[in-house]
Amino acid sequence: MTSTLDLAADGALTVSVRGVTHRYPGADGRALLALDGVDLDVRAGEFVSIVGPSGCGKSTLLRLVAGLIASQAGGIEVLGGTPGDAQRAHALGLVAQEPGLLPWRDVAANVRLPLDVTRTPDGARVNALLEQVGIADFAGYRPGALSGGMRQRVALARALVHRPRLLLMDEPFGALDELSREAMRVELLRIWEQERIAVLFVTHSVAEAVLLSDRVVVMSGRPGRVRAVIDVPLPRPRGEAQESSAAFIETAAAVRAALRAGDDGGAA
Ligand SMILES: Nc1ncnc2c1ncn2[C@@H]1O[C@H](COP(=O)(O)OP(=O)(O)OP(=O)(O)O)[C@@H](O)[C@H]1O
Ligand SMILES: [Mg+2]
Repeated sequence: MTSTLDLAADGALTVSVRGVTHRYPGADGRALLALDGVDLDVRAGEFVSIVGPSGCGKSTLLRLVAGLIASQAGGIEVLGGTPGDAQRAHALGLVAQEPGLLPWRDVAANVRLPLDVTRTPDGARVNALLEQVGIADFAGYRPGALSGGMRQRVALARALVHRPRLLLMDEPFGALDELSREAMRVELLRIWEQERIAVLFVTHSVAEAVLLSDRVVVMSGRPGRVRAVIDVPLPRPRGEAQESSAAFIETAAAVRAALRAGDDGGAA
């Protein structure tokens, strides 16, 4: 049997975005240009972050890659095919800014949801992930009884439970306090190092992008264009200690400079 997961073998690009332009209908009847000619690659097992000013189209880009909205112009390939078709959808994990848990299901049942949908039960996998994200003691709790940080841990476990090839994360730690955020970064890195899935990660934090990523894609203000793609030359495994290294400081400075480069262009 050919599994979904064979779709992007042999070093093929996990995500290929070419010349993607996206318009939304504006309130006044005029179209709003959200993305303009965006190119982006994510290779198998690679960690790529997107940073850019609010409203520059980061979530739009992630939704296009996930196949949640249809692409209008340009080409997008995900795992060797059209984003959002059934096979690709099953090879994808998504963590949004809001955890989006089902309030009537307990923690374990929320994490299990993607396996229930595909009728591939794997209790051992659910338990292992609950341990990994540090929430095993709360397996029987409903989301309403958890803190925000705990809910995001559940959302992360749910996104990983079906062993996706590509994890899309949209500001997943944005609502957390600094200490929880640091703890989640460390956990995400540990899980990524074990599972070696490709990650496309949106964040407003330059330090977070540099610490986690192989490459940082810097976008301009609206309409979103790719202003720079910056390689992160830090060795792995990574940890908070690297934030004081010269390579980290230089890379973060390069990302900040690229973010600022068009400030005179009237970005939001
Ligand atoms: N469903 C929609 N209908 C109309 N316009 C939209 C829609 N979604 C987003 N937009 C517009 O597209 C632009 C890009 O929005 P998007 O949410 O992709 O930005 P973002 O970079 O994710 O911003 P943030 O960092 O604040 O999350 C914004 O100007 C927004 O108003
Ligand atoms: Mg967004």
